[in-house]
Amino acid sequence: MARIDDADLAVDPSAPAPAAGSLSPRDTRPSVSAPRGSIAIPGDPNAPGNTIEVPATRSSISDASAYMHNLSLSPSMRDRRGSRNSFGTSLPIPRSPRPSRLSTVVNQEGGRPNLLKSREIMASQIQDMHKDKVKAVKNMAFAFDIDGVLVHGSELIPEGAEALKMLNGDNMLGIRIPYILLTNGSGKTEEARTQQLSEILGVPVDLDQFIQSHTPMQALAEYYETVLVVGGDGFTIRRVAENYGFKNVFVPKDIQAWDPTISPWSKLTPEEKKEARIVDFDKIKFDAILVFADSRDFMTDTQVVIDLLIAEDGKIRTKAEDPVASRIPIYFSNGDLLMPTEHKGTPRLTMGAFRIGLEAQYKALTGVDLERVVYGKPELATYKYADEVMASWMEELHGEKRLPDNVYMIGDNPQSDIIGGNMYGWNTCLVRTGVFQSKEPNDPNNPASFGVFPNVLEAVKAAVRKELGDDFQFKWNPKINPVTHGDGASAVE
Ligand code: G3P
Ligand code: MG
Repeated sequence: MARIDDADLAVDPSAPAPAAGSLSPRDTRPSVSAPRGSIAIPGDPNAPGNTIEVPATRSSISDASAYMHNLSLSPSMRDRRGSRNSFGTSLPIPRSPRPSRLSTVVNQEGGRPNLLKSREIMASQIQDMHKDKVKAVKNMAFAFDIDGVLVHGSELIPEGAEALKMLNGDNMLGIRIPYILLTNGSGKTEEARTQQLSEILGVPVDLDQFIQSHTPMQALAEYYETVLVVGGDGFTIRRVAENYGFKNVFVPKDIQAWDPTISPWSKLTPEEKKEARIVDFDKIKFDAILVFADSRDFMTDTQVVIDLLIAEDGKIRTKAEDPVASRIPIYFSNGDLLMPTEHKGTPRLTMGAFRIGLEAQYKALTGVDLERVVYGKPELATYKYADEVMASWMEELHGEKRLPDNVYMIGDNPQSDIIGGNMYGWNTCLVRTGVFQSKEPNDPNNPASFGVFPNVLEAVKAAVRKELGDDFQFKWNPKINPVTHGDGASAVE
């Protein structure tokens, strides 16, 4: 019967016990004293036990650094290079935002037309008396991050709703102060997400003031016809891509339904099998891979994406001789590693974690770096697209299509919202309700230029006071008649 002896273990029985921090763990009771890189098992090294400690023959240090680009991780104002995309690639965005299908701008408080009318008349009288403030209103706008600023997943951050109500006209001038929502969130159609947000926030969110991470990626439909789209619940993401104009949209579950052996451990439900779009994938040539949203099945999604990346010219179940020559492009809709959710502990891992895994696995398999393109904040393309949306929204609200001089980005993530806003010349406000949980007065690597605030309402008020004056009042007072009282304000908050 085979037995293990000291020779097998490459251990010299006469040698002294290894020092703390070596990979014989029992001698390192308090693991805090172990140097970096050791993995300590607690216990008394001299106590006899029923185990033997076999020295590891491979390093305990993770291989990850060899497989990843530094640029993938955390660009900072201090040590970043040109872009999170390191390959000089350009990111197409639509020339103009989607056309207006407006409904909510005119009648934001539906069902009360007479009241609104009289309020509008009164507001316009008050605005006539505060021409300077009105001018300043028309020269400012906000860009709000969503997760960690206005909501946590599907839970409202109450200050978010209050801030938006004030900007929607509940202020001394009864005027709308423009804002757009600029989120790295993803996974639903813009229609579905704005509807959901309107319900959570209790204020209408219009399609024309809304950008999610994959919104600008609709431009890619002009370049690619047949795409694998990854992420999101069920098959919803197909709808998103089709709305953007992609012609042939497949998701990993379609391929899994066609060949269940492609993902050894995952099984589709009967409903999923029914909904899958099964074609003869041996005859399909994919043009690109678009990771739009968080993966719900890392194993299957990783496998199918890797299969396509190493395939010959986008044909699944083939293998290219040269992993680079005929590789199809892969795009990610954002680069965030963490996201704030309803979870009460630390922020949750998100698409960046999936991307880093793919990068490492691809390099481990092929020996070459995966070239990929990452949209979303803080990428320049996303901010340029935001400009388009903001200018159109200014026109919708104030009749003039122009960019204001004073834009305030309010975000919770220094590595996306703040770095992007800073690079783009916006004023940046960092809030403490999301990813940024440090006790420091500001983020050391990507400091917010306008400051750090406990929540979004405080940030908005500070910005409004700066632009419109300390005397600006954050409530509409319907009782005051501007003709007899001189202004439309309630008590200062
Ligand atoms: O990247 C994850 C996403 O949930 C972040 O959304 O609104 O904070 O940009 P947001
Ligand atoms: Mg956020």
